[in-house]
Amino acid sequence: MKYKRHTVTAALPYANGPVHIGHLAGCYLPADIYVRYLRSSGEDVKFICGSDEHGVPITIKAKKEGITPQQVVDKYHKIMGDAFKEFGISFDIYSRTSSKTHHETASGFFKTLYDKGVFEEEITEQYFDEKANQFLADRYIIGTCPKCGNENAYGDQCENCGSTLNATDLINPRSTLSGEKPILKSTRNWFLPLDKMQPEIEAYIDSHKDWKTNVFGQCKSWLNAGLQPRAMTRDLDWGVKVPVGGAEGKVLYVWFDAPIGYISATKELFQNPTSNIQHPKSSDWELYWKDKETKLVHFIGKDNIVFHCIIFPAMLMAEGSYIVPENVPANEFLNLEGDKISTSRNWAVWLHEYLLEFKDKQDVLRYTLCANAPETKDNDFTWKDFQAKNNNELVAILGNFVNRTLVLTHKYYEGNVPVAEEYNKADILLLEEMSKYPAKIAASIENYRFREALAELMNLARMGNKYLAENEPWILIKTDPKRVQTIMNISLQICANLTIVMEPFLPFTSKKLATMLNLNEGLKWKDATRTDLLLAGHKINTASLLFEKVEDEQMVYQVTKLSNSKMENEASKSKELSQNSEEEKPKVAEGKPEITFNEFAKMDIRVGTILEAERVPKTDKLLKLKIDTGIDIRTVVSGIAQYYKPEDIIGQQVSILVNLAPRMLKNIESRGMILCSENEKGELSFVSPVKPGTNNGSIIK
Ligand code: 2FM
Ligand code: ZN
Repeated sequence: MKYKRHTVTAALPYANGPVHIGHLAGCYLPADIYVRYLRSSGEDVKFICGSDEHGVPITIKAKKEGITPQQVVDKYHKIMGDAFKEFGISFDIYSRTSSKTHHETASGFFKTLYDKGVFEEEITEQYFDEKANQFLADRYIIGTCPKCGNENAYGDQCENCGSTLNATDLINPRSTLSGEKPILKSTRNWFLPLDKMQPEIEAYIDSHKDWKTNVFGQCKSWLNAGLQPRAMTRDLDWGVKVPVGGAEGKVLYVWFDAPIGYISATKELFQNPTSNIQHPKSSDWELYWKDKETKLVHFIGKDNIVFHCIIFPAMLMAEGSYIVPENVPANEFLNLEGDKISTSRNWAVWLHEYLLEFKDKQDVLRYTLCANAPETKDNDFTWKDFQAKNNNELVAILGNFVNRTLVLTHKYYEGNVPVAEEYNKADILLLEEMSKYPAKIAASIENYRFREALAELMNLARMGNKYLAENEPWILIKTDPKRVQTIMNISLQICANLTIVMEPFLPFTSKKLATMLNLNEGLKWKDATRTDLLLAGHKINTASLLFEKVEDEQMVYQVTKLSNSKMENEASKSKELSQNSEEEKPKVAEGKPEITFNEFAKMDIRVGTILEAERVPKTDKLLKLKIDTGIDIRTVVSGIAQYYKPEDIIGQQVSILVNLAPRMLKNIESRGMILCSENEKGELSFVSPVKPGTNNGSIIK
């Protein structure tokens, strides 16, 4: 179906810290590329984002900084909004969930569901800190993760293994407010009965087999495990007040209010429309949320999948007058130099620092992050790769082609586009090839394959470079100046077309090149199929380099900065350890008898990725996994069900013994064994390859 309009959202980031490359690569950059492409294609699109200003992450930050939650969100809302703008993330609106419109919208939405009798009101026991005199929702409580043994897992999520948790799942829970062991106390909350809604949600997910495999797989795992009612209210004082009687001191669950933030921001956009909205009416926001001819797409990171694919659609369906997301192209995570990006460990590349250190080089970062985007698996950002992408691709291919073309045009024709007198066969083929690129790039973008789209864009520049190298106009100029006119005309047309198709990816460079070419403003995507964007006699402007080499010293500076962070972290960790050294050391299992190297070498251990995971029915311990071993895709039954939820491990890389003889477990043929470490309590956790993004099939020895 061809849609009449598009609503594109990017996850509302928590307003509790500055923006880093992980944020950009995860959802803001792909969303921006997608939206810029739609705009260039003449589509009606609204690009919505804003700060997520509620939830425990905010109140904890306030406590840490000794300021109020409102001061925290005011500070970071500005820092984040500025960073997105500096990097060309072209939101139509960047709003915030502390706005009046949002409070009214979220509260009204809750009330509608409440009045329709959607919620189940229940009294349950929740953790309570007697010293701080408050309930401990989400991140106010930490404890040992029942899945991976991480001793600092939060009440809502374990950051070590990525599992979604309930506070009552934690082993040895303690309050992050006082460090005290909490007590259980009864409290009333309102639950969304996801269990009862399972058939509609399942039908909805099943109608979207076209979604990215990581997204669809995670949804199916949740559904296969059986949806559970989820509390939509919390006993906290920071957030949107629960708008019903008997709910004093309670606010909406942050994951209830935050996605409604997309709706409130769209309302605000039409209340204060920008100049590019024609004949606005304040009720027009409804077209973007309620008209079946609107395509709703949410760009998010993988930790937000369940909220956008199951819980938010369930809320929208229960309300009844809204459309549901048509696609949720979630990315995996970006790591930094082989380690998880972490704000608290200062293991990140911060956008505001990047801007100071690489002035006017936003597009280099956009390029690197897109070329290496974690689209199908976690990926790694390294400064070495950043330098290589800049020097060997942007400078050597795109920059070099454009620069040679513009410099020669000035040198031979005083900046006037020469007449193409006669095309030879190769020219005609090349022009035909050039005209196909917009459709190729568009197809990849429309399928959310931005890396592939960017690679095609570079192929067009490569094609131009090759054309110049093969035709050598700088030699021919002495013997056949007429031919050189044609070569230069064609090269200039390629530059002009590049300006259009690079815009979604490299908007700053596109603008710079358009100015150098003195191109008409307002060219659209379809114009990039033309071969006459620059007419003979058209005067181009002065040329300057599009990209500059990144020098080794700049990289040494960045890498040193990161090693300093690492050293500081290790120093504080070892200080902590030495403080605890008096405590009992964990027991270690006894050593096994010696084996020869040949005995060890018989084992074929590989890196593999979990593609699918589901519980083996009628067992407590077993998960049935489908693993891509690099050699093949096979089924392995593994006794890890008590430590990992199926939906949390899709896409995870593991070590697998592939030449273990097949075994039948509960009537399933298991081919291979996943390697796990076992702690003194007998709890298992995956032995994952240390370097994320290692190729499947890599040998472990
Ligand atoms: O994970 C996060 O940073 C959340 N603040 C994302 C919210 S997305 C949406 F639902 F608003
Ligand atoms: Zn965990």
